[in-house]
Amino acid sequence: MRVLVCGGAGFIGSNFTRRSLARHEDWEIVCLDALTYAGNLDNLKPVADDPRFTFVHGDIRDRDAVEDAVRGADAIVNFAAETHVDRSIAEPEAFLTTDILGTHTLLEAVRAHGIARMVQVSTDEVYGSIDAGSYCETDRLAPTSPYSASKAGADLQVLAYFHTYGLPVVITRGSNTYGPYQYPEKLIPLFVTNAIEGGKLPLYGDGLNVRDWLHVDDHSDGIEAALLRGRVGEVYNIGGGNERTNREITGIIIDELGLTDSIVERVADRPGHDRRYSIDCAKASSDLGWVPAVDFEPGLRDTIRWYADNPWWWTKIKHQTAEFADWRRRWYEERESDA
Ligand code: NAD
Ligand code: TYD
Repeated sequence: MRVLVCGGAGFIGSNFTRRSLARHEDWEIVCLDALTYAGNLDNLKPVADDPRFTFVHGDIRDRDAVEDAVRGADAIVNFAAETHVDRSIAEPEAFLTTDILGTHTLLEAVRAHGIARMVQVSTDEVYGSIDAGSYCETDRLAPTSPYSASKAGADLQVLAYFHTYGLPVVITRGSNTYGPYQYPEKLIPLFVTNAIEGGKLPLYGDGLNVRDWLHVDDHSDGIEAALLRGRVGEVYNIGGGNERTNREITGIIIDELGLTDSIVERVADRPGHDRRYSIDCAKASSDLGWVPAVDFEPGLRDTIRWYADNPWWWTKIKHQTAEFADWRRRWYEERESDA
C-alpha cells in the first residue's frame, strides 16, 4: 500500500510513519509536509534512508503540490495542521487556512484522483468541555478555541464530502497525546524540558483542568485501525482513558526528575480554557478492535526519561533557532495585554 502522510514531520505523523514502516514491509510512505515551526526532519531521521520512504516539502493548501504528491497513492492520512491552542488564541489565521482550507484541498484531490481512503486526524477538543460523563461520536460539536473550531470546521467538510460525493473518508478524534518528539510548547514537553534546565513550570489558573492522556504509539495504532478497518463516513473516538488534572501531571514530572514543587509558577489562566475533556471510546473498541495498550504512569515516566536522555533533540528547538523564544515572548506579551 502507498500512503500519503500529510504532516508527517510533526509529533504524531512522524510516529505513525516510523511505526508503519517498521510494521508493514509492503507499505510505502510519501510524507508531504510544509515544515512549519513544528515540522522537524529530525523526527524522520530513523526512516530517512528507507527506500520505501519519500519526503516532499510542500503545503496542503497548495493544490499543485498536493496533486503531485498524491499521484499513485492508495490512501491519505492527514495529520497536517496548526495544533497549539495557545498559538490559536494569539495568531488564529493559519489555523483557518491550514486546518480547514488545507483539508478542503486534500478532499478535492481524493475526489479528482479516486483515492481509495482518507483518514482525517481530528481531536476530542471539537466536542468542547464536559463537566461529567463522556462525549460519544454522535454528540454535537461545541468547539471553543480557534484551534478546535478550525478542526471542527474540517470535520464538517470531511463529512459533507462523504454525504455529497460519497468520498471514502474516516475521521479519528484523538485525545491529548504525549510521548517522544513532541514540540516543547505543549504541556508535557514544555514542563519536562523547563524542569531539566532548572526553569519554572507555568501552570495556568488553578491547575485543575482535566485532559485524557493518550500515548502517541496508541494514537498511531488507533489511526492505523481506522485506516484499515474503519467504515467510510464514520467517526471514531480514540482516547487514552487516563483523565488527569494538570497538577497531577506536574507532580509526576517533578517526582520523576527528583525536584520540588518550588519550581511550579502559578500564572494567569488561558482565555477560554476548557475545563475537562472526556470521550467514550466504546465504538473504536467494538468496531475497530482498538484499545490503548500503554499504562499511563509508566508511559509518562518513560517519556520524561526520553527527554532527559535526548537533549540534542529539544535544545536545538529551544535554543538554536529564534522561533521558540520569539513565540514565548509573543505569548507573554499577549497575556500581559489581556491582564
Ligand atoms: P504537530 O504540530 O507536531 O505537527 C503538525 C505537522 O503539520 C508539522 O510537521 C507541520 O510542519 C505540518 N504542517 C502544518 N501546516 C501545514 C501545511 N499547511 N501543509 C503541510 N504541512 C503542514 O502536530 P501533532 O501534535 O503531531 O498533531 C497531528 C494531528 O493530530 C493534528 O491534526 C492535530 O489536530 C491532531 N491531534 C493532536 C493531538 C495532540 O495532543 N498533539 C491530539 C489529538 C489530535
Ligand atoms: P496543551 O498541551 O497546550 O494542550 P491542549 O490545550 O490542547 O489541551 O495543554 C494541556 C493542558 O495544560 C491545558 O489544560 C493547558 C495546560 N497548560 C498549562 O497549564 N501551562 C502551559 O504552559 C501549557 C502549554 C499548558
